[in-house]
Amino acid sequence: MKKNNFLENTDYSQTSNISIWGTGDKDTLELLDKIEIRGKWLNLAAGDGRYNLKLLEKADSVVASDINEGALAKLSRTTPEQYKAKLHTKAFDLTKRFPFEDGAFDGVFCAGTLHFFSKEILEGIFAEIGRVLKPRGKVMIDFATDVRRIFPDGSIWVKKGEPGYKQEEAAKFLEESFRNYKIEARRSKVDGDDVTINSHTYTFSCNYILIVGEKK
Ligand SMILES: C[S@@+](CC[C@H](N)C(=O)[O-])C[C@H]1O[C@@H](n2cnc3c(N)ncnc32)[C@H](O)[C@@H]1O
Repeated sequence: MKKNNFLENTDYSQTSNISIWGTGDKDTLELLDKIEIRGKWLNLAAGDGRYNLKLLEKADSVVASDINEGALAKLSRTTPEQYKAKLHTKAFDLTKRFPFEDGAFDGVFCAGTLHFFSKEILEGIFAEIGRVLKPRGKVMIDFATDVRRIFPDGSIWVKKGEPGYKQEEAAKFLEESFRNYKIEARRSKVDGDDVTINSHTYTFSCNYILIVGEKK
């Protein structure tokens, strides 16, 4: 197996109950605790559910989505029994039209994913987020910049096709993209999280922008 294609083959059934992405970034977890979350939320590209429980604790219902059905199966399996009734899952590609009606959600959350995509694709994703949100619906996203993934031998992994956003460029782009929202943005960073996928470990670090917005 080549070093840089292991992620696409992630077999979530062979991973521990803890998310392969770790326990979550402190500032993101704190913000999830702080903001008002009510009604029906969409967790976009939820992965194996690192942040999903925070949404389930406060929302009336949560649709956890991802392109990877194995990740969603693990997310469902590891969700505590008491929250299972308000959890729904939906596998889809977030770069295409979302499989939901206009105004279906009170809130949309997306972490750890948007930096994979070009500005052109992001414009489509943000348009879909806006479409599925109710008026005055809420969005909470994080956006990683200055990403570095380093293998134990010191070599750097640049994920194929990843745009490699720098912080100021991304801040400007996000501000423009969310001009129809009342937004609050803050900045944080990941200092070096070890990520192990299919027996390959790398250290992930980045700066990131956290945005909470309310649709005007
Ligand atoms: C780095 S993980 C982050 C997962 C989760 N949001 C978290 O913070 O733990 C990125 C996730 O995006 C998903 N993903 C990648 N491309 C996608 C696409 N086009 N549509 C939907 N999900 C996608 C992957 O399957 C993966 O679960």
